[in-house]
Amino acid sequence: MLYPKILIAANPEECAKLAANHFEELICSKPACVLGLATGSTPIPLYQELIAREKAGKIDFSRVRSANLDEYKGLTGDHPQSYRFFMQDNLFNHIGIKPENTIVPDGLATDVEAMAKAYEAQIEAWGGVDLQLLGLGHDGHIGFNEPEDVFPVHTHEVELTAMTREANKRFFGSLEEVPTAAYTMGVGTVMAARSILMIVTGADKAQIVKDSFFGPVTPQVPASILQFHPDVTVILDEAAASKL
Ligand code: F6R
Repeated sequence: MLYPKILIAANPEECAKLAANHFEELICSKPACVLGLATGSTPIPLYQELIAREKAGKIDFSRVRSANLDEYKGLTGDHPQSYRFFMQDNLFNHIGIKPENTIVPDGLATDVEAMAKAYEAQIEAWGGVDLQLLGLGHDGHIGFNEPEDVFPVHTHEVELTAMTREANKRFFGSLEEVPTAAYTMGVGTVMAARSILMIVTGADKAQIVKDSFFGPVTPQVPASILQFHPDVTVILDEAAASKL
């Protein structure tokens, strides 16, 4: 059992600065690095910080490659709630990353297995993920890997739980509009990254942070697998750290 490096910051903005330091260090030392990226509310301050740092000349995204964790099934890349749209809107449109160097699972894939295989093959062809960014779901999900009886290994399709659909309905008009399924990197895909950076903010996630990193490793808490990864940094605000 390995323990992650835990950094605690006063608030989400300070968490974003600490996380941005990791990205800056990597991109400066390896300009063609491969990033694993996440969507959701948590990484938004980080993406704003990265945009500001590129504008200030501290980072150069022109050779960086990125692979996103997940995408809703059935949404096109220009649907405002799709994760491709989120990434364009919150990061890619504002930095010098080349469009061909960004991949997000295809929400419209008809042959899911072929799409998933090609997705993993592209990451491998790039040399694997150097730094995987993660958020944490209230039920311990990472990507869209929900609590299950086994850890799913590769990129695959998942049915979304009622809890996750409920949590994500704030981005949609109503619960009915939230897709019922998604495509996500597997837990094995995530674990293959050379280093992992998770950001968690808010008191509502304090218990799941404790369960994930100090409870038993179980597929019922997907993030608990990170206890077996040798290079994990968890950045928490004081509220999310309040039960440690
Ligand atoms: C998003 C993702 C999800 C989120 C998690 C937390 O690409 O993979 O696992 O990281 O649902 O979401 P927020 O940050 O909105 O609380």
